[in-house]
Amino acid sequence: MDAEQLRECGHRMVDFVADYYKSIETFPVLSQVQPGYLKKLLPDTAPSKPDTLEALFDDIREKIVPGVTHWQSPNYFAYYPSNSSTAGFLGEMLSAAFNIVGFSWITSPAATELEIIVLDWFAKMLKLPSQFLSTALGGGIIQGTASEAVLVALLAARDRTLRKHGKTSLKKLVVYASDQTHSSLQKACQIAGIFQENVRLVKADCNKNYAVTPEAVSEAIATGLLSGLIPFFICATVGTTSSSAVDPLPELGQIAKAHDMWFHIDAAYAGSACICAEYRHHLNGVEEADSFNMNAHKWFLTNFDCSLLWVKDRSYLIQSLSTNPEFLKNKASQENSVVDFKDWQIPLGRRFRSLKLWMVLRLYGVENLQSYIRKHIELAKYFEQLVIADSRFEVVTPRTFSLVCFRLLPLASDQDDGRNLNYDLMDAANSSGKIFLSHTVLSGKFILRFAVGAPLTEEQHVFAAWKLLQDLASKQLESS
Ligand SMILES: Cc1ncc(COP(=O)(O)O)c(C=O)c1O
Repeated sequence: MDAEQLRECGHRMVDFVADYYKSIETFPVLSQVQPGYLKKLLPDTAPSKPDTLEALFDDIREKIVPGVTHWQSPNYFAYYPSNSSTAGFLGEMLSAAFNIVGFSWITSPAATELEIIVLDWFAKMLKLPSQFLSTALGGGIIQGTASEAVLVALLAARDRTLRKHGKTSLKKLVVYASDQTHSSLQKACQIAGIFQENVRLVKADCNKNYAVTPEAVSEAIATGLLSGLIPFFICATVGTTSSSAVDPLPELGQIAKAHDMWFHIDAAYAGSACICAEYRHHLNGVEEADSFNMNAHKWFLTNFDCSLLWVKDRSYLIQSLSTNPEFLKNKASQENSVVDFKDWQIPLGRRFRSLKLWMVLRLYGVENLQSYIRKHIELAKYFEQLVIADSRFEVVTPRTFSLVCFRLLPLASDQDDGRNLNYDLMDAANSSGKIFLSHTVLSGKFILRFAVGAPLTEEQHVFAAWKLLQDLASKQLESS
């Protein structure tokens, strides 16, 4: 590493990135390349001699950028957002600079200690119960993704239950969740050895914006108990992926408690909104949870990846995930005077992710972050009003946060309840390169999802997106 070379090249890269952000609206939001496009453009083998940075920049511009879908574009409305910001970007840079592998406290005390402090700050912003703080029996950790968070929670829960019922009862352990729960739970169960038939996805209630009802979950548990099964895990969601439904946390928490089950809350997307007083009630019931997760990398200006997991009792995670090989032994760990996050996660190695979250919190401050969330929710409300004002469309589920689920109403002659009509509308919008939105299916209805949350999105982008959808819909309706 030549420091002067880094300075020179680093400045050029920062210029490149700044120019990229300045011109981001000139690129098609959804990449328009065809599968396999890059193989045709790059050589079959690695270069034997070094190339110049200039040549590399040329290739990035000509060959890589066309294959990038621009998640940071202000016209990005698909899935859920994945925010970047100046603070988050700088934090990533610094993390790359130190490039530590912070599995144990001694491998970089600052990484572990900053993570503990920042997760405690965040727990206080969300008004999580004090048991989730590092000063009590719990604490927070940064995982890579919500998928890893639910997996480690599930492993801790599984082992807690097996200790109680005996190792041979694995085949009897049952997980309960709504059928709107993110597929990461299903994957976690596959990894954790939970029998596939024991993953009970209870049908959500279409009259409750697709939240699950406590009655349906209780009934499913009662049926399982009659067959000699052991209920051990409930996963509730605050802000489901399809329609941002909020499951009834207090009631599900009570059910979990009554059956000595682990209660996990997945607030991957909507957790961010709960730093605002007016949305915090969606977390009521978190007092009953054993673990709570939200992704700062979705809607909190923190560059991917940064998934925050808090547990009420860290000892369960550590009992499931701790290993202690000779080559990692050290005085601080042996004396139990420090946290070794390797024992709270799947991999050994870990990045210095807390830097970027710390920088986001410090360089924006909580009040600005609250305004940021509120602004996106206002923009979603604005889009919702535009949809409501056009009688050819309908808003399909009530909007809770910054996601609007809507569709073009099916024609009288429609054989598929508007599926093709709406698919074609989405396809036309996405292939125009002007916006990117995604879809879901609820109760058999094909629905368009308009998720506001990209950092650069302003009212003019929402309005232009709506105009585009209206124009495309008019063309489609004329030709049908
Ligand atoms: C509610 C919910 N949970 C979990 C996930 C999975 O997130 P990750 O990619 O961090 O595993 C998502 C992704 O959008 C989500 O919306």
